[in-house]
Amino acid sequence: MSTQLQTHFLTERFDSLTFKENVERSMSQESSNGDCEYSIAEAEDKNEILDLARKYFNLDEPLNEYIGLTGPDGRCPDLEAYMIASLDEGTSVKATCDGKLVAFSMNGIVYSQDESEKSYVDNPKFQKILDFLNYNSLACDIFKRYPNADKAMSVKIVSVDPCMRGKGVATKLVEKTREIAKDLGCKLMFVECTSHFTALIMQRLGFEKIYSLDYADYKVDEEVVFKPKKPHSTYTVYTQEL
Ligand SMILES: CC(C)(COP(=O)(O)OP(=O)(O)OC[C@H]1O[C@@H](n2cnc3c(N)ncnc32)[C@H](O)[C@@H]1OP(=O)(O)O)[C@@H](O)C(=O)NCCC(=O)NCCS
Repeated sequence: MSTQLQTHFLTERFDSLTFKENVERSMSQESSNGDCEYSIAEAEDKNEILDLARKYFNLDEPLNEYIGLTGPDGRCPDLEAYMIASLDEGTSVKATCDGKLVAFSMNGIVYSQDESEKSYVDNPKFQKILDFLNYNSLACDIFKRYPNADKAMSVKIVSVDPCMRGKGVATKLVEKTREIAKDLGCKLMFVECTSHFTALIMQRLGFEKIYSLDYADYKVDEEVVFKPKKPHSTYTVYTQEL
């Protein structure tokens, strides 16, 4: 999950739409991978994305799971607002199988001049997660490390239906995101990994680990806040110059 997203897409809307058409055209030509089709997620996909998130991501992302973010219905309005904030940018990717949504990567462009401001939400559990992300965002300070990058593609949220996991679907979503980032002129892409499995994907795709923090070392009032189950022992940030 990433906290650095800002909604600059209104000013970039025209450019995005133009690029979006180009990207869609190139993706439709070669987007079949195994049983899945990969394409840009649209505003009309919102409800299906939220349905899938309520079944899986809201419950089983390592921090969400540890903290018991939602009740059994999997709903969390604050997380869901955060999740779909960048959907209109045309930078998120979905995977469908026989027309059914099975995975998504919610992505957005972050700009170097964006201030990393602390966000406040109603849900105290989600607030803990946002505070953690914000803490790391300040500590990591990505654009300071890449002074020549004026914007970067951020992978915010990746979720795959459990019946499709371990088959390279998330890897393909990240690869598609990287194609979009290049088409949109991003010179940098970064992924903040709360899951060990996402970190494996980034390593495999040749990203560089620039930051890590063991969950055991993140304390508030001298208490460890997150103790997600193994193998999710460390939060990491991976980058790649494009
Ligand atoms: C993390 C997640 C998106 C990965 O999706 P996926 O489609 O299974 O990922 P991939 O098949 O592309 O594989 C990712 C890597 O993790 C490994 N992996 C995935 N699930 C695994 C499991 N349960 N046990 C062991 N290894 C696993 C794969 O072998 C692969 O490693 P490799 O490249 O060295 O072979 C998926 O597990 C998920 O939705 N998890 C819950 C939500 C979440 O944690 N999201 C990410 C937050 S940063």
